[in-house]
Amino acid sequence: RTIAVVLAGGIGTRVGLGIPKQLIRIAGKAIVDHTLEALSASERIDEILVMMNADSLHELDYLRGDPRFPKLRDILPGGETRNDTTKLALDALPADDDVKVLFHDAVRPFIDDRIIGDCIDALDEFDAVDTAIASADTIIQVDDDVITDIPTRSRLRRGQTPQGFRLGTIRRAYELAADDPDFTATDDCGVVFTYLPEVPIRVVEGSAENMKITEPLDLAIADKIFQMQTAGLADFGGAFDLDLTGRSVVVFGGSYGIG
Ligand code: CTP
Repeated sequence: RTIAVVLAGGIGTRVGLGIPKQLIRIAGKAIVDHTLEALSASERIDEILVMMNADSLHELDYLRGDPRFPKLRDILPGGETRNDTTKLALDALPADDDVKVLFHDAVRPFIDDRIIGDCIDALDEFDAVDTAIASADTIIQVDDDVITDIPTRSRLRRGQTPQGFRLGTIRRAYELAADDPDFTATDDCGVVFTYLPEVPIRVVEGSAENMKITEPLDLAIADKIFQMQTAGLADFGGAFDLDLTGRSVVVFGGSYGIG
């Protein structure tokens, strides 16, 4: 059995529109609706739990009983930090250690069946799984705006979500973290990595489209991807169409000259 937890406890300070960014409407729907639709469409997911920003909890009342989301288990208030939100979700999940749980950011609406399936399959062999993509940019480490390290790019990945776990494993990691006064983490795999170092975390390939809507520019990019999806052009993984006679390449419906 697999439960997806949608993390929607944040407020979206960096987008800065004064409402939680998961409520911003793109392509006619709130971002969180798009995310829920994508998760609901997966046959691999049995139930969905939404953790919503506590101050705006009532804004999602319309989802309760919505025939689009028969798998919706509950909508509960999130916490102060993302990790607090995860902890509150763990309190609300069943006692069964073997349940597979996928934590997914509400603001990654382009999650697809392939990624969901790969994460769930990986949990047959591993107790923890992360989703990541290669980094196009070189990543540098700094201290006071001076470079202190330049890790080898080919070994670096950019972490996305879902992050998947056997429920018993992620609960144990958070229990150990609770005893650590210096606890810091920004995601859930980080908690397993730090407190259960003996647990290998499998990495599944994410996708560029599975972006996190973080900055205002991301709203424009997401809007464009939705437009292309609607037009049937954003067939992820097959978005390229090379027209050699016309010496152009079509990417997401846009045509670009190549000579
Ligand atoms: N999140 C959460 N609970 C929190 C903070 C964040 O569930 N207390 C969720 C967000 O709603 C989002 C995901 O974690 O879906 C990724 O976080 P981020 O992009 O940082 O979202 P915000 O915290 O909303 O954004 P910002 O940092 O710009 O305020």
